[in-house]
Amino acid sequence: MYNVSPLDGQGSNHVGVVGMKSRACFLVLGIWIGACTSGTDGLEVTTVPGALNFDEVPGSVSYNVGAEITVLDKDNGIIVVGTPDGLLGLFGLELVELAVYPDPGEPLTTGAIKAITVRDNGILVAAEQGLFHTFESALLYSPLSAAVDGLDIVAMSSTGSGESEEIWLATDDGLARVHDGLLEMIDFPGESLSPTAVAATADRVLVAFETNLYELEIEELTYQILAGDFGSITGIQAAGQEFIVACERGLLVRQADGTYHHYTLRDEGAGAAVDAVSYDSNSQGVGLYEDGLLSLASGSPEGLVTLDPPTAGRTLAVDDYGNAWVGTSTELVGWMVGDVVGFESEVSPILDQNCGYCHTAGVSGAPKQDFTNYGVAVAMADSIVNRVSTGLMPPGAPLFTSSPDDYETLIRWYTTGMNP
Ligand code: HEC
Repeated sequence: MYNVSPLDGQGSNHVGVVGMKSRACFLVLGIWIGACTSGTDGLEVTTVPGALNFDEVPGSVSYNVGAEITVLDKDNGIIVVGTPDGLLGLFGLELVELAVYPDPGEPLTTGAIKAITVRDNGILVAAEQGLFHTFESALLYSPLSAAVDGLDIVAMSSTGSGESEEIWLATDDGLARVHDGLLEMIDFPGESLSPTAVAATADRVLVAFETNLYELEIEELTYQILAGDFGSITGIQAAGQEFIVACERGLLVRQADGTYHHYTLRDEGAGAAVDAVSYDSNSQGVGLYEDGLLSLASGSPEGLVTLDPPTAGRTLAVDDYGNAWVGTSTELVGWMVGDVVGFESEVSPILDQNCGYCHTAGVSGAPKQDFTNYGVAVAMADSIVNRVSTGLMPPGAPLFTSSPDDYETLIRWYTTGMNP
């Protein structure tokens, strides 16, 4: 049906579709890369050595998740935690399990969480029982599950939205793309390993097969291999038009203009191991490596927080405010390196409006306390947050449930070090 396209002779290799076969009830197009890579004309990478310095240690909050953390991400600002038992969300001060709301015949639970991708609206979750997407604070079984049935998904990346959404999948069977409910397998001749990480923007995909990293141009279906010694590649994150890549020997960044920089994070020798990378437009990217957390806010890596020597399998997500959340075994630690909440500008007006009526004047038997006074609020913070999050205050009128933003601001102030 399709012919193999010839090599374009410019050092990049053309892809052609050579055949199709059916898989489940979906069509599988086997897209074969038309020719072997030469290995000599890979994309150029500039190596930038240098260990990072660290500032003072910021505040942190920590949670015991009660199960091994396998994946971390965020869904509309809520940090979500994947475990072998299912998916949890960090709402306010509490980790709450996201329940599945099944239609008849659909799975009742997700099973183990394998990968998460943030899409245009919410997240898509690859789990043992299929694909799920979030709807408010619940999970629904995704109709795309049928297209990926039988594939063992290692990593996912979504681009576009609605009908034009494309999902790129690193699976045990190879790189796959789901579009319009169709699954296409994309083959890289000469590449015998399975893909370990993938990330996509609207026009290109970066995919790693352990130590080999390829840049695939979607429109032309051409690819190039990157020249360099990065070690195993553990994670790739699309960051606007850029990409951030976590490597066993440093951090790789692809700028929007197509240039690559390999930051070794060491003054000399092989690079430091980077476990995970995460992106938020606010933080411009955060990485978790041997020495701690780094930020890409200034364009090149800068030290954020020194951490204890790593244990295996750490995960990372950055929230909407630029705070970095690290999963180590069963512990989730949020490092408050992002935007700070100001008491005078943000919290005091909320306490004034919702609590002042009774407490400032001491009416109706309410203890006379001026919560808008910073010193009072800090001294009583535990009690205030406890009363508010248990719904006891303000009494009668559940004002805070009608304004989750206010509640979130109060909790964020409380958990980020109670700034003035
Ligand atoms: C309708 C009046 C009213 C409003 C509004 C109100 N409170 Fe109260 N509050 C009370 C009363 C009455 C008490 C004492 C009885 C009790 O402890 O439940 C109290 C007690 C408290 C206490 C315990 C104080 C202590 O000294 O131990 C805290 C903390 C508190 N409120 C926080 C808040 C916060 C925060 C808000 C706003 C979100 C709020 N309250 C809004 C009436 C109110």
